[in-house]
Amino acid sequence: MELLDINNTNNIDTDVFHSNTNIKMKLRNQIEEIDNPVLEIKDLAVSYGEEKYAIENVSAKIAKNKITAIMGPSGCGKSTLLRSINRMHELYPNTGSKGGILLSGDDIYKMNPINLRRKIGMVFQRPNPFPTMSIYENVIAGFLLNGIKLKSSEKDEIVEKSLKDVALWDEVKDSLHKKGSFLSGGQQQRLCIARALAYTPEILLLDEPTSALDPIATAKIEDLLVKLKDDFTIVLVTHNMSQAARISDYSMFMYLGELVEYGKTKKMFTNPVDKRTEEYLTGQFG
Ligand SMILES: Nc1ncnc2c1ncn2[C@@H]1O[C@H](COP(=O)(O)OP(=O)(O)OP(=O)(O)O)[C@@H](O)[C@H]1O
Ligand SMILES: [Mg+2]
Repeated sequence: MELLDINNTNNIDTDVFHSNTNIKMKLRNQIEEIDNPVLEIKDLAVSYGEEKYAIENVSAKIAKNKITAIMGPSGCGKSTLLRSINRMHELYPNTGSKGGILLSGDDIYKMNPINLRRKIGMVFQRPNPFPTMSIYENVIAGFLLNGIKLKSSEKDEIVEKSLKDVALWDEVKDSLHKKGSFLSGGQQQRLCIARALAYTPEILLLDEPTSALDPIATAKIEDLLVKLKDDFTIVLVTHNMSQAARISDYSMFMYLGELVEYGKTKKMFTNPVDKRTEEYLTGQFG
């Protein structure tokens, strides 16, 4: 094989070299731009018991009281990254992780995971109200399941406030003691968000929360998330690019386990730095 003379730059594809370096510099600059971060992900890697990591070298700060969207093709590690933020990935067998995550400066891997999940709540793709519980019990399920005793008046207050927060109160206030599973899909998903909010998290993680819903139910959840960011920090995995463009402040684009691009949503959608982001956003793959 012919060796390259590195002193002879004509032999080296300098454009590729420089453009890669520039992309890395720009990505780093964008990460530094995040104002008022509440969460800092540092060189995170997660594996599911295999040698290969599902995500690797992920570093990012998450801005307080903003919506951060995570996008990317199926299997690129979006859910893995999201789950690692409240250590839900540890519930799968043989997972391993490297690197760290700081919540307001504290290492989450040194915290009690149950306490951590109280601070960082999660909502999944399929609405999953507890089928044997009433709407009322579903909202306060976090307290019931953890044996946290509340006065009746406190419970009533939390249920009403949480259901109002998700704009479901008017629809269910006369059937609070009926089972949550009788609600429509969109109502069930709002109930699940209410259940997460009732536990007063600082951060709400949502994994494709509207992918099983129709456009009207989707619009309601999107409106809701924009209102909720006044009180909570939101991280949202979505396959729906127009949803990310509509409601998120910051966007991440992941590809093959790597965080390829991260920055202000408007900037990413109008002027992406990396070619792979551009190809994804223009529907050329994924
Ligand atoms: N519980 C698990 N056990 C083993 N491997 C897993 C597990 N969950 C995810 N993986 C693997 O980790 C990688 C990332 O998966 P992940 O579910 O995070 O992707 P994703 O971007 O959320 O995909 P999708 O858009 O389809 O939901 C994939 O290669 C997947 O096969
Ligand atoms: Mg996923």
